[in-house]
Amino acid sequence: MRHLISINDLDREDITYILKRAEEFEDVARGERNLKILEGKILGNLFFEPSTRTRMSFEVAMKRLGGDVVNMTAQEASSIAKGETLADTVRVVSGYCDAIVIRHPLEGAARFAAENSSVPVINAGDGAGQHPTQTLLDLYTIKKECGKLDGITIALVGDLKYSRTIHSLIKALTLFETKIYLVSPDALALPDEMLEEIGGDVSRARLYEVIEEVDVLYVTRIQKERFPDEEEYRKVSGSYRITLNTIKNAKDSMIIMHPLPRVDEVDPAVDKTRHAKYFQQAFYGVPVRMAILSEVML
Ligand code: NCD
Repeated sequence: MRHLISINDLDREDITYILKRAEEFEDVARGERNLKILEGKILGNLFFEPSTRTRMSFEVAMKRLGGDVVNMTAQEASSIAKGETLADTVRVVSGYCDAIVIRHPLEGAARFAAENSSVPVINAGDGAGQHPTQTLLDLYTIKKECGKLDGITIALVGDLKYSRTIHSLIKALTLFETKIYLVSPDALALPDEMLEEIGGDVSRARLYEVIEEVDVLYVTRIQKERFPDEEEYRKVSGSYRITLNTIKNAKDSMIIMHPLPRVDEVDPAVDKTRHAKYFQQAFYGVPVRMAILSEVML
């Protein structure tokens, strides 16, 4: 039984293998080929935080492979509202399903769920911690759209303090020969201990200094829900925004990624440029999650 809790659970070889598998599922993800390898399998979705793409793309991945999905209803309508513990919910749901996908506001919740589950657990985001399936689809996007992972220069932009997509992605990027620029307001900088731990070619920069050099601009939303108080959020809200002007000196081949949802950090005028890949990136969530599900369930 294999859980997927942190990107640190995977090495370069594992990642390369999953990305290769995802490629094989792309036509199935588009509905162009029928493949029912997960027939008879049931996935349990336990989302304790809002989600559109992650939950739906897991569901689509499962269904297109012939499997089925059960969803916990909104917390107010489930036994969570009666005071059920996470451990008990997981114990029960793991008896109903062949794998569990969990998203929870507390860091470490997915690891804790795995300890209480009799089936594989996939972390779909634990607080500001990890979001490994997003990282795999991010890497897949880079590989598909830039043609490679080794040798790319990437700027991680925005809320580097609280974004779990960043905390996962940055570690995976250092497994490849990448050059990483961290671009954020001081108040949203990557935590120092994380910076020390990851190693690799990572440095802080201002976007205008590096924009001509980057292959990938990875933009994030300010994670409002993680701020201890509203006032702190207000100080940084709207503090960065990618516009046509920001990217005017970028390479033709530079791509812009965003895990979505976006609020105001990417001007919609950018959507029409050849650089914008965030909607394509969201689609890639389906074949990548097919690859993950077939690994943990078969
Ligand atoms: C991200 C998340 O939940 O961490 N969303 C996603 O899964 N695509 C990013 C975000 O909410 O800003």
